[in-house]
Amino acid sequence: MTALTNQDRSPATERAAEPVRHVAIIMDGNGRWATSRGLPRTEGHRRGVEAVRDTIQAAIDLNIRTVTLFGFSSENWTRPADEIDMLFGLFRGYVRRDIEKLHEAGVRVKVIGRRAGLPDDIRDLIDEVETKTAANRVLQVVFAFNYGGRDEIARAAAALAVKAVAGEIAASDIDEGFIADHLDTAALPDPDLIIRTSGEMRLSNFLLWQCAYAEFVFLPVLWPDFGRADLETAIDLFRSRSRRYGGVKARESA
Ligand code: IPE
Ligand code: IPE
Ligand code: MG
Repeated sequence: MTALTNQDRSPATERAAEPVRHVAIIMDGNGRWATSRGLPRTEGHRRGVEAVRDTIQAAIDLNIRTVTLFGFSSENWTRPADEIDMLFGLFRGYVRRDIEKLHEAGVRVKVIGRRAGLPDDIRDLIDEVETKTAANRVLQVVFAFNYGGRDEIARAAAALAVKAVAGEIAASDIDEGFIADHLDTAALPDPDLIIRTSGEMRLSNFLLWQCAYAEFVFLPVLWPDFGRADLETAIDLFRSRSRRYGGVKARESA
């Protein structure tokens, strides 16, 4: 793998055209990638980490501001224990191995999802990488780990209830912005583009609140095969869409 620097040599003006602020990716298909080759599912997850590295480099080159990667869902606990152990081990190993390189490249790392229930050492590792990279501004990489959209919204509702009972807020204070500020993604912009690999066309509990006006791109490629060209394909599709947010385009309103 090459260094995490901006390797894009195209003119700055071209690269700067219509920047995609936030791309969120449902990294799916590791198991199918492996079984189609007669390999254990875990091998697909291992290769999936390489695709994560390539995607982060491509995101830097394409001047994307934030990339969110769905790594482990609140429903993935229903998988066999050895697969779960493997996924946690890969996450642990990836962060430990890449923390310095990410930091040097100016990548800010954040993790969203339920912290309670994660092994202590992984929680410590998350704290360490978030603190170390907090001031970095080249690219923000958000790992959704032990994440579920419904769980996130329920935790936000519980936090609001605690404040209401303590008399810190009134029911009339609770509006959309207030709820957004109590989600794990409080400091993040909503995703502009959601990509799912593997051909499945569902959200699987990903960013339910935040994707209200996201554009969706579903690609048939399995996650371990995902690379820069696929990211560019998705961004091209995104740029061909007309985002109206419930309104009408200026030229259509005359
Ligand atoms: C995505 O690949 C990785 C995780 C969900 C952790 P899968 O493991 O879901 O692979 P498929 O969908 O079974 O092929
Ligand atoms: C979604 O993929 C979760 C992640 C990519 C981490 P799944 O493979 O768990 O989703 P389903 O089961 O096909 O809906
Ligand atoms: Mg899957």
